[in-house]
Amino acid sequence: MLRIGVLASGRGSNFQAVVDSIEQGEIEAEVALLVVDKEDAYAIERAKKHDIPWMYVNPKDFSGRDAFYDHIASELVKKDVGLVLLAGFMRIVGKPLLERFRMKVMNIHPALLPSFPGLHGHRDAVNYGVKVSGCTVHFVDEGMDTGPVIIQAAVPVHHGDTEDSLSERILPFEHRIYPLAVKLFAEGKIEVSGRKVVIKGGQSALFFPQGEYVSDA
Ligand code: GRF
Repeated sequence: MLRIGVLASGRGSNFQAVVDSIEQGEIEAEVALLVVDKEDAYAIERAKKHDIPWMYVNPKDFSGRDAFYDHIASELVKKDVGLVLLAGFMRIVGKPLLERFRMKVMNIHPALLPSFPGLHGHRDAVNYGVKVSGCTVHFVDEGMDTGPVIIQAAVPVHHGDTEDSLSERILPFEHRIYPLAVKLFAEGKIEVSGRKVVIKGGQSALFFPQGEYVSDA
């Protein structure tokens, strides 16, 4: 069975969505370890509630970024993790971890990449004036939100939206497409070829607010 490691810095609602999908039997996997880089991350409470092992890793305890990520990678390897999920982890992941988990690290970003990467996806979308935004699950590479796209959900931006109102509209779709991407990975249905992610079985990777899949075929 797939063993998952989760890296989080805060609230952990995406972590929760994945845990819920596992508990509901939708994903055949187990969360083997939660790693947080903030002592007061609410994600810790969620891990405790679900009896998921967790650890706080303080970046200040390490000589540099590489040592920090090397340590996290070893902890994940010790737990026999096969997929790493960034769930509101507010750092750019370093090479030592990416090299050990190549195309096995996923992230959820609250915009339609490659538009509005970085820390303020909602705010940047609102300020730019786009009419459609959404969220993206992608594999993580060395860049900032630049890895191959796995699934996206399109969500409308309304006149008068603020960072908060758009975030509130997008979040429920994050909670749907992130577990879905994990499920597809766990079932071995995700293939990566260069920048392109193909989902075996012809399943579409575009998710509309109505919740329906639109087939590529
Ligand atoms: C989400 O908006 C996610 O897209 C972004 O960070 C936020 C994390 O929220 N990467 P949560 O901690 O999962 O509730």
